[in-house]
Amino acid sequence: MSLKNSARLLQRLIYSRRSIRVFQKREVSYKKILKILEYGVWAPSAHNSQPWRFILILNQDIRGKLVEEMSRLYKADMERDGLPSDMIERRLLKSKLMLKESPVLILVCLDKTVLWSYRDENRDENEFIMGVQSVAASIQNILLGASAEGLGACWMCAPLFCKKLIRELLQLPGEYEPQAFIVVGYPAEKPIPPPRRSVKEVTYIIDGV
Ligand SMILES: Cc1cc2nc3c(=O)[nH]c(=O)nc-3n(C[C@H](O)[C@H](O)[C@H](O)COP(=O)(O)O)c2cc1C
Repeated sequence: MSLKNSARLLQRLIYSRRSIRVFQKREVSYKKILKILEYGVWAPSAHNSQPWRFILILNQDIRGKLVEEMSRLYKADMERDGLPSDMIERRLLKSKLMLKESPVLILVCLDKTVLWSYRDENRDENEFIMGVQSVAASIQNILLGASAEGLGACWMCAPLFCKKLIRELLQLPGEYEPQAFIVVGYPAEKPIPPPRRSVKEVTYIIDGV
């Protein structure tokens, strides 16, 4: 394929990918799931450390328990924030639906054992940030890959807010930092693209000397 054609395809893929939150009741094959995770492992990573770990949650009992326990924590947070009860219920319902009903639920973790380490707090903190950035790059690859494969997906930040609970319930090693969920399935919605700031608005040019 010519470079011009692949640029056109990539452009179409990037512009048309949307966060999909409602899915068809259609199973996604294991082969297809592995295929989109394969896109993830081809992301760039700091020192090529590849710190992403994907945990495919297939057990429905564990998944149900996880969602219930996470919702309990989310509700307590919102109550502490003083949100009105109808808003709390709406938000809980929305996140529960996505987490319980999506055909595929993937937990993405950062494996801290592969990060570079120094006897220097500042450099260690930066290495951790590089790990987070690497995991994020891999999630973006998966979202784009899912879209290219005719699937819909959405990145969900919920695990960041209940790392301890997730670690305990899924019996993860202490060195695994839960970073995000990716919900995946065949899309049952076609969202309007949320607006973007223009390139000009977010770009600053430092010119001359
Ligand atoms: C770090 C991160 C966390 C996100 N967390 C959530 C989430 O918890 N729930 C959700 O519905 N969407 C979540 N999203 C999706 C964004 O809302 C979405 O990407 C944004 O609104 C732009 O829409 P688009 O992806 O369709 O272009 C998250 C996206 C990112 C990058």
